[in-house]
Amino acid sequence: MSYKILITGANGMLGSNLCTQYSKDKKNIVIATDIKKPDFTKCLNLKMDITNKEDLNIIEKERPNLIIHCAALVNVDYCEEYEKEAEKINSIGTKNIAEAAKKSGCYLVHISTDAIFDGNRGNYKEEENPNPINIYGKTKLDAEKNVEKFCSDYAIVRTNIYGWNREEKFSLAEWMLDKLEKEEELPAFNDVMFSPILVNNLGEAILEIYKIKYNGILHVAGSEACSKLEFAKAIAKVFGLKKELIKQTSVEDINLKAKRSKNMSLNVEKAKKMLKTRILNVEEGLKQFKKLKEEGFVEELKNG
Ligand SMILES: NC(=O)c1ccc[n+]([C@@H]2O[C@H](COP(=O)([O-])OP(=O)(O)OC[C@H]3O[C@@H](n4cnc5c(N)ncnc54)[C@H](OP(=O)(O)O)[C@@H]3O)[C@@H](O)[C@H]2O)c1
Repeated sequence: MSYKILITGANGMLGSNLCTQYSKDKKNIVIATDIKKPDFTKCLNLKMDITNKEDLNIIEKERPNLIIHCAALVNVDYCEEYEKEAEKINSIGTKNIAEAAKKSGCYLVHISTDAIFDGNRGNYKEEENPNPINIYGKTKLDAEKNVEKFCSDYAIVRTNIYGWNREEKFSLAEWMLDKLEKEEELPAFNDVMFSPILVNNLGEAILEIYKIKYNGILHVAGSEACSKLEFAKAIAKVFGLKKELIKQTSVEDINLKAKRSKNMSLNVEKAKKMLKTRILNVEEGLKQFKKLKEEGFVEELKNG
């Protein structure tokens, strides 16, 4: 099967991995879009600002089978300070995408987040009540509502991700790895739980969600929850680095602009039952993360 796939936020961590992953199959046509024009050698690259309705005419012109909406303002503390900008990009930008997808008859996978929950309990199922505690979470929840209201053929995928970046910035896993490789002390919260999934594992799941035309909300995160401290220790183990460098800290000890959820872990039982794609656990995901580097995928991600 071949697909015409349009990706928003293609320069970002998730978007760039999806562009690289999907365009490896020569049968696929991958349209990479972002607010700054992307430059993937195997994709059709287009500048598309999701807050500019005129730019979204690209969707009607190209009529992809599938739109994967990754573009967002993800810096939680920045969102707290610049609420209007966060609303404009995360909520209104998603409304624009949902309307354009419906108008052009495209299936939409909207990437959402565990941050729509308050984090008091964790292991959240799809049907549980969201209750965001910061502006980022609130604007991402409004985005979900806009998808439900303005689009009919869609999946809302709630997740928490890590992976390699194409651009010169670090995901949590890259930052932790860099500290350990440089033999620097690595502070890690023992009181923040999450269930991160490797972006490339998520990429496989997204294609399957499209193939089965799932409709509604689905949690696709890592198959087990861990604290940030346990995640750091798992990185040290998988990469053979010194775990003694990791220092246990508490999120209560630092002053962040936006409130943080303590247990954001997502229950992925529904996705595990429904999808053939195997959802990896922490160690399996990190082994795959390491293998991607060893096999040259990261080189391709950064330069391809
Ligand atoms: N990273 C996580 O831990 C995490 C966890 C849960 C869910 N998510 C969700 O996963 C998705 C992808 O996240 P990510 O980590 O890959 O984020 P990212 O690396 O920041 O990528 C987002 C991309 O969207 C672009 N963008 C911003 N405003 C735009 C606009 N108006 N029009 C078009 N593009 C725009 C950004 O460009 P600039 O960089 O130039 O602004 C960036 O290239 C997001 O929807 C996020 O909410 C992420």
